[in-house]
Amino acid sequence: MYFELSEEHLMIQQAARDFANTELKPGVIERDEHQKFPYEQIKKLGELGFLGMMVDPKYNGSGMDTISYVLAMEELSKIDASTSVVVSVNNSLVCFGLENYGSEFQKEKYLKPLAAGEIIGAFCLSEPEAGSDATSQHTTAVDMGDHYLLNGTKNWITNGGNASTYLVIAQTNSALRHKGINVFIVEKGMEGFSVGPKENKLGIRGSDTHSLMFTDVKVPKENRIGEEGFGFTFAMKTLDGGRIGIASQALGIASGAYELALAYSKERKTFGKPIAAHQAIQFKLADMATEIEAARMLCLKAAWLKDQGLPYALASSMAKLFASDVAMRTTVEAVQIHGGYGFVKEYHVERLMRDAKITQIYEGTSEIQRMIIAREILK
Ligand code: CAA
Repeated sequence: MYFELSEEHLMIQQAARDFANTELKPGVIERDEHQKFPYEQIKKLGELGFLGMMVDPKYNGSGMDTISYVLAMEELSKIDASTSVVVSVNNSLVCFGLENYGSEFQKEKYLKPLAAGEIIGAFCLSEPEAGSDATSQHTTAVDMGDHYLLNGTKNWITNGGNASTYLVIAQTNSALRHKGINVFIVEKGMEGFSVGPKENKLGIRGSDTHSLMFTDVKVPKENRIGEEGFGFTFAMKTLDGGRIGIASQALGIASGAYELALAYSKERKTFGKPIAAHQAIQFKLADMATEIEAARMLCLKAAWLKDQGLPYALASSMAKLFASDVAMRTTVEAVQIHGGYGFVKEYHVERLMRDAKITQIYEGTSEIQRMIIAREILK
């Protein structure tokens, strides 16, 4: 058992922290308020190698491990969870899926620009009637010989408007349920593919979330990932890693709020002393620090298992379940510690509180994580 981070890990953590403070912090309130996508920031993160962190350098990636990814996600999310979700989806859903299950042709054509951050990707599983129940796909792909004909609607798609490459899950044979599901690479601009209006959200407002519509979109055969019927397994395996990213995002939101509350509690005085000298505040800070540390350990454990090539579905769901609840509790308490100031935008904690909520919902709700954990421990 060894708890210390390597020199390289510390460097990546510091680089992400510096980037978050110098590039993400200025403008974060405005991007949230006006739902502005962080174009420049994402471009720079791509140039620095943060969009293909775990991808092999031969496909333009940075060749880092999952622990580095957790550390970077925590630092970016402390300041701007709208930017970090773009990083998370591109890294752990899109790049991971293509690198691990794509053909050489798909890696050359799609993974390389995604890992270099020249373009961004989206992962399209959710539908109006298939969120938690992912096998109930209504989007269909009919085999037409040299291509598939894709029809249907996807909902709540992160990067929906700004992506260029979309991994779209669709039903090819409904009688086979999950074994009749496939995943296809769809390019923006393919005829019949349109993007719906941007959702007006409670949190992560700088990221763009859209519905996507597919009407007789001709998808070339070579754009199907894996063998016929592999799509559901693809989605499940990819989400196992995606949940490490969202757990780390939740961890970052929590630690960002905690750091703000800690600093504020030393400055703000009531009844003649800093509020940090009151036991009521000390107990809150102690609970926050303890829960954050536990969430961090769960995230790093899941990442370590993945890096060792060991099963990590259970650990990633545990990390996401716990870290997202910690994010919610911690941000609510951070607002409380700030009192009235916590309720105004300039103090950042109200945004972190709004951003925290989505971590209990996307990439599988907390209820889905409990289902996965229960199945794993009972099997
Ligand atoms: N790895 C590999 N295979 C898996 C797996 C995993 N983690 N989980 C399930 N499977 C396999 C099972 O072994 C089974 O295969 P066999 O029948 O061949 O043995 C098959 O998949 C079906 O599994 P289940 O019977 O467990 O399927 P289910 O219908 O009961 O659903 C579920 C399982 C875990 C609840 C799944 O539906 C699920 O994860 N739902 C949540 C989906 C989700 O996370 N959506 C979020 C959208 S993405 C997003 O939010 C991205 C974004 O933009 C930020």
